[in-house]
Amino acid sequence: MNNELANEIRSKCDIVDIVGERIPLVARGKNFFGVCPFHDDSNPSLCVSREKQIYTCFSCHATGNVFTFLMNYEHMDFRETLHYLGEKVGVDVSNIRIAKKNTKFDSFYEAYQLSLKYFQNNLQSKIGKDARSYLASRKIDDAVIKEFEIGLSLNANNDLVRLLSNKNYDLANLNKIGLASDARDVYIDRIMFPLYDLSGKVVGFSGRIYRDNGLNKYLNTKETPIFKKGQLLYHYHVAREECRQKKSVIVMEGFMDVIRASTIGIRNTVALMGTALTHEQLQLLKRLSTNIILCLDGDDAGVHATLGIGDMLLKEGIEAKVLVLPNPDDPDSFILNQGKEKFIGLLESVVTFNDFKLRKLKETVDFRSDEETAHYINQVLIEATKVKDPIRIEIILKKLAKEFDLSYNTLEMRFRELEKPKRSETKVVVTYKKQKKTKYEKAMEQILYFMLNNDWVISLFEKERFVFPNEASRLLASEIVYYYTTYGSINIPDFYTYVQDKEEIVGFLNNILASNYVEHTSRDELFEYFGVIREYSRTQEIKRLTNSLQKEVDPIMQARIAEKIRKLRIGDK
Ligand code: CTP
Ligand code: MN
Repeated sequence: MNNELANEIRSKCDIVDIVGERIPLVARGKNFFGVCPFHDDSNPSLCVSREKQIYTCFSCHATGNVFTFLMNYEHMDFRETLHYLGEKVGVDVSNIRIAKKNTKFDSFYEAYQLSLKYFQNNLQSKIGKDARSYLASRKIDDAVIKEFEIGLSLNANNDLVRLLSNKNYDLANLNKIGLASDARDVYIDRIMFPLYDLSGKVVGFSGRIYRDNGLNKYLNTKETPIFKKGQLLYHYHVAREECRQKKSVIVMEGFMDVIRASTIGIRNTVALMGTALTHEQLQLLKRLSTNIILCLDGDDAGVHATLGIGDMLLKEGIEAKVLVLPNPDDPDSFILNQGKEKFIGLLESVVTFNDFKLRKLKETVDFRSDEETAHYINQVLIEATKVKDPIRIEIILKKLAKEFDLSYNTLEMRFRELEKPKRSETKVVVTYKKQKKTKYEKAMEQILYFMLNNDWVISLFEKERFVFPNEASRLLASEIVYYYTTYGSINIPDFYTYVQDKEEIVGFLNNILASNYVEHTSRDELFEYFGVIREYSRTQEIKRLTNSLQKEVDPIMQARIAEKIRKLRIGDK
């Protein structure tokens, strides 16, 4: 276990900074508040405590320490959060090797790693000569091949399936994860581009033809348990850090575009890989940055996609920017033919999405016709109602008035008219019903919360040999006691790190942390709480005994049980 190291790293960073770098926080009293990124909301229900070094959402009950925040928000695994934070606060993390959690998908990832190595070897061997010269002709040099782990599948005797089978990978599983089709190789004679999941693990491939053989340009891994196209963005794991530094994310259509941009040092990029943007992908994008630059192909399809994605983002309250490429360039061809400086020039002259949309609208209008002109002006006003910034709205109206020699008032009146129905639109707010807790549940949770905050409560709990009447509380209490005896004292964020793999405990712990209990207590008060629980245990035991008394037929046993009940009843008073 690397608990000491994890605790050292955790104690050197401040959760308020880490969360605050990602979502805006406002200080209120001792705590900081922001919009919770773990459920759909616009209210500041996420509370981050500097003192306790934990976060808690009062709406969806997401809670945890700085590690769990990064794991959930950035889709990192625990080891990655240690690396990321360790480097940030200057703790040596070079030899962190945390015992990896075994997931049921581990063998799938391994099979992909082996395939990756196999494809990479092929490309570098003699047989990869033609493929290498194809890549060279596209100006993809060795450094790029290495960075993007490009490989080659062969027209051989199902070599990959054989190789994996020899390593004891089950054929049924290989079929399931798209590395075999029956007993045959899926990819034949294609340049292999690995596709990564959000944490950077290879979970699929896209194979491109490199000689004219009339086959589909790209062959992609099918949907599998570990490869769900609509939930991924190509290059996300690299873009994560780059986007934070550059404070923007650039969206492209294909991975070749992302690869090309990387050759000129632009890496805050992701690719959609030929699909329409899904809701999940949109959420991922927003996490990379809310400053989103759409840089799709310059052809009609690209413009169409830009309009679609831009509108989706507008609905989320984000006005994207558009990097306009000449038709029919894509970022790859443009950078290749025009060079780095020209592309950076375009990047510096991006237009807002609304401007782009209006420009596209304008291209289709015949301004000699009054009817078409009026229609156009109305369209512009409709678009303006989607803009949230009142200053931008005024600029749009002023421009329009000037351009068509109309009075500002007329335009504004029309604008207000168009704006009206929107006002009545009700926003769907997700609410979480709070379960009502009984007095006993509250007492149990309060005691556990006292234990988490006060070493002396744990000692007393031990001395009293107190036992909780329910499993979840007993489990949590025993972990608290164990932690305390091992480390000599307890604090919530470090305890969190310790229990993070224990799902049953984390769930219950979250519930307690999200419930606003009191931190400190006195001995007397604590004994009152113990009393509440003991009374509860007693009534439960009486109920249980009464039940078995009714079922008991043996009169001797009946008498014994009745005696037990009587003793418990006396203890009641
Ligand atoms: N795509 C695909 N199958 C195709 C064509 C495209 O899966 N037959 C996906 C690929 O993921 C590709 C993306 O759509 O990255 C964009 O397609 P396209 O613009 O045609 O690819 P390019 O990036 O231009 O590829 P290349 O330059 O190699 O032709
Ligand atoms: Mn291309």
